[in-house]
Amino acid sequence: MLLPDDPNATIIMIATGTGIAPFRAFLWRMFKKSMKIIKFNGLAWLFFGVPTDTTVLYKPDLEWLAYKHKRNFRYDVAISREQKNAKGEKMYIQNRMAEYADELWEVLQKPTTHTYMCGLRGMEDGISEFMTKTAEKNGAVWKDFEKQMKRDGRWQF
Ligand SMILES: NC(=O)c1ccc[n+]([C@@H]2O[C@H](COP(=O)([O-])OP(=O)(O)OC[C@H]3O[C@@H](n4cnc5c(N)ncnc54)[C@H](OP(=O)(O)O)[C@@H]3O)[C@@H](O)[C@H]2O)c1
Repeated sequence: MLLPDDPNATIIMIATGTGIAPFRAFLWRMFKKSMKIIKFNGLAWLFFGVPTDTTVLYKPDLEWLAYKHKRNFRYDVAISREQKNAKGEKMYIQNRMAEYADELWEVLQKPTTHTYMCGLRGMEDGISEFMTKTAEKNGAVWKDFEKQMKRDGRWQF
């Protein structure tokens, strides 16, 4: 997984559990003073799925980044065993993403948006289901859209 060269890109990161690892590296490169390698001025948007509040890896760092870099970093957590989705079921990462479906769809249209996914294999189905519904609502076919994004190197996992 490599970040694009564009310092103004939109970077959407979708992680479950220890799948946060590559995104920690991305974020530290973008924002941590001592490690800043690129002069990032785009938007980094992290969706993070964990079982409990105590298992939010790097929680203080992520919260600090979100506080310090409000304009450039968004951070949304799904805590499966402590939060419920709209149907009263476990709050999984795809349910949290669904709360921003319209905004996400709009952002994905931009050629400067790059999406990365890392973590449990099982989350792919849920995310694909959510994206299929969102694309449909917008008159598109997710499988085709996803294929094109992959071809363009904008959908990586
Ligand atoms: N490729 C890489 O570079 C890389 C790097 C790091 C980690 N990984 C992989 O990432 C995985 C992370 O495992 P982990 O033990 O850290 O995770 P975990 O803590 O077991 O799970 C993280 C969260 O995902 C939820 N989840 C379970 N099934 C899901 C589904 N179908 N859809 C959406 N969310 C779901 C879990 O909910 P519940 O448990 O409450 O159901 C939990 O809240 C491992 O398989 C690891 O090998 C890969």
